[in-house]
Amino acid sequence: MSARTSGPGRKTLASVERLSFRYPDSARAAVRDVTLEVGEGEVVLLAGPSGCGKSTLLRCINGLIPHMYHGEYQGRVVVGGLEVAKTPMSTLSENVGFLFQNPENQIFMFSVERDVAFGLQNLSVPREEMRTRVDEAMRLLGVSNLATRAPHELSDGQKQRTALAGVVAMRPRLVILDEPTSLLDPKTALEVAELIGRLNRELGITFIIVEHRLELLVPLAHRLVVMEGGSKVLDGAPEEVLSDPRVESYGVNVPPISRLYTSLARDGIRLPRNPSTPEELAQEINDL
Ligand SMILES: Nc1ncnc2c1ncn2[C@@H]1O[C@H](COP(=O)(O)OP(=O)(O)OP(=O)(O)O)[C@@H](O)[C@H]1O
Ligand SMILES: [Mg+2]
Repeated sequence: MSARTSGPGRKTLASVERLSFRYPDSARAAVRDVTLEVGEGEVVLLAGPSGCGKSTLLRCINGLIPHMYHGEYQGRVVVGGLEVAKTPMSTLSENVGFLFQNPENQIFMFSVERDVAFGLQNLSVPREEMRTRVDEAMRLLGVSNLATRAPHELSDGQKQRTALAGVVAMRPRLVILDEPTSLLDPKTALEVAELIGRLNRELGITFIIVEHRLELLVPLAHRLVVMEGGSKVLDGAPEEVLSDPRVESYGVNVPPISRLYTSLARDGIRLPRNPSTPEELAQEINDL
């Protein structure tokens, strides 16, 4: 059964209103007039060709733009009731967790447990509370047994889990991930995807995720947003967006199951909905 629940009735957690951003010395805007609402508890995937503005949009939501990157900024981004451009990064980081594409860019310094605690130290969380949260995050991400390991002793997958544990320990309402599985082998990537699904279901964390390997994350996503040339071009339930005839022209890797669904439909075989897992596909064919 799909883990997804329907979207309507959710409270808005993040809203992007007519946002445009141009980097200095750049001829054209990297993000153009984008409007996007993300509901509390949603998992939103962001896709589109290289250079279409995905990472830039993420930076506008976590505050790196305009606080660290300067440029021409128009529109408004509000997260958890805070207007990003007018809120200091230190306050934003209590609400929004962010994981860079490359885990090497996260802070890895001492040992797994000290690295997981790192972000909390900046939030000046009391010692006892810190211990509890670090233990809980390590347990959730399955790295408790690695607590005293040094960074150079970890695999890429273990590093990615440690980085994610550090984000979870801060208990953000929104977590933003830029290609979280790109460096991982298929098995580890699937494990990380499953963990994201658990964090969403069990802790109610909202996610915005840029990911090329859609087949991994579509099963747990509530929405799929496609960008091209800085603009938002498609936005809807993943199964709807993936059956849109334009989707492949935007450079989106349509998962094989969705492709099969579309080609069956072209041959006049209409399944009730576009399945996101082999199990769903089998069930639908069975029901037919
Ligand atoms: N720091 C920067 N300074 C100037 N231009 C930038 C900067 N970062 C990105 N750009 C430009 O902004 C546009 C959007 O880039 P962005 O990194 O947001 O795309 P993306 O969709 O994340 O691409 P990819 O899939 O390759 O990661 C591109 O034209 C890129 O060259
Ligand atoms: Mg990018």
